[in-house]
Amino acid sequence: MMRFPEGFLWGVATSSYQIEGAVHEDGRGESIWDRFARTPGNTLNGDTGDVACDHYHRYAEDVALMADLGYGAYRFSVAWPRIQPDGRGPANQKGLDFYRRLVARLLERGITPMVTLYHWDLPQALQEKGGWLNRDTAERFGEFAALMFDALGDAVKLWLTHNEPWCASMLGHFRGVHAPGMKDLRAGVISSHHILLSHGRAVTAYRDGNYRGQIGIAPNLLPNYPLTDSAADREATRISDGYVNRWFLDPVLKGSYPADMLAFYTQVVGPLDFIKEGDLAAMGAPVDLLGINYYRRRTIEADPTSELGFRVHDIVPGTPTTVTGSEIVPECLYDLLLWVKANYGDVPLYITENGMVRDDRIGPDGQVHDPERVDFLRRHVAAAYRAIEAGVNLRGFFAWSFMDNFEWAFGYSQRFGLVYVDYATQARIPKDSARWWGQVARRNGLDE
Ligand code: NOJ
Repeated sequence: MMRFPEGFLWGVATSSYQIEGAVHEDGRGESIWDRFARTPGNTLNGDTGDVACDHYHRYAEDVALMADLGYGAYRFSVAWPRIQPDGRGPANQKGLDFYRRLVARLLERGITPMVTLYHWDLPQALQEKGGWLNRDTAERFGEFAALMFDALGDAVKLWLTHNEPWCASMLGHFRGVHAPGMKDLRAGVISSHHILLSHGRAVTAYRDGNYRGQIGIAPNLLPNYPLTDSAADREATRISDGYVNRWFLDPVLKGSYPADMLAFYTQVVGPLDFIKEGDLAAMGAPVDLLGINYYRRRTIEADPTSELGFRVHDIVPGTPTTVTGSEIVPECLYDLLLWVKANYGDVPLYITENGMVRDDRIGPDGQVHDPERVDFLRRHVAAAYRAIEAGVNLRGFFAWSFMDNFEWAFGYSQRFGLVYVDYATQARIPKDSARWWGQVARRNGLDE
């Protein structure tokens, strides 16, 4: 049997906008995702998170289901506009109460909470002032973080500042496929800087409050491989790695931006004058843990005609993929974990997301059989196990997602859940993978 270290956390993950619904309730303000999703053309079928999984009203039954299934930990995010509807000022008590009730429920059922402070739902009021392009948003985030630590710092011991800062900055400001929907590389780089700065502000607020827990960040990391062994492809791969991985890891874990990327961005977007003295020191405030969201790899080909100088091959012919064309490459998770250790040292790691989309349907027996998802997770967990054997300091593994939910621009069309959600009735139907994941958690491991 592959038995994991004692105390290893087996969890499931979600985020506020993707599951909560109740967007007008109890004083919640508007977020950039409310605005983006309501704007025609931005999401498949015009789907929004208005109702989502109605988790805001069903959190107690959702926690009960997690407990029954045997999960040890739950990673969720806080909707900033529930706490500060305008992105500033005192906390909205009803917003805090919701998360207090949720955490109390989790603890009652023996489930360890892990809280993400920002999973992309910025208060729209802050967007009106420039959002992440405005340096002041980093200060606002520090204050929001302090409100959350004050409310939950005794009960919650595991904190993440940001979820996937590359997506928030680059998909939101450069690729235009996420809120706020901008398409400008310079804006992508500026927003990434302010997001990283806000991370530093939150970590500092946590230290200042003397809380007894651990805090870190959860970037999406994508191992990059050159398409061919040519010098051009290898060079392009280095830039791609800098763009998605090192630009976010280096400031947090080394207190500096990678020199090659500073030079590269200066060349392609102009002077990086938004980086001020002291910023890197703030961003590099020591963290206690690193979350890693891992789904796939990137295969890179040099392409001088593209803005970044490369082209991503999503699928290398012959590689198995999910129904949405995402390569299934668990061995790359092993490579990634060893790369993180080799380059960034032994900071405790958590896989904060891993999972897959499947064309799940309720069968004639009323159940959802998803053997591909069980296989997917089994192989990724096995890769994580091998990494631990090779000396990687991995402390937990969270499957994305606890239940089917609003998959951003893809709306409700993509089901990532271990639990099936029938959106017409809001019934929760555990898939086979949901029960299997509970067994893994209970046994703290897998059969060979
Ligand atoms: C990344 C994000 O953190 C999450 O919100 C998203 O639903 C999953 N991965 C799947 O794409």
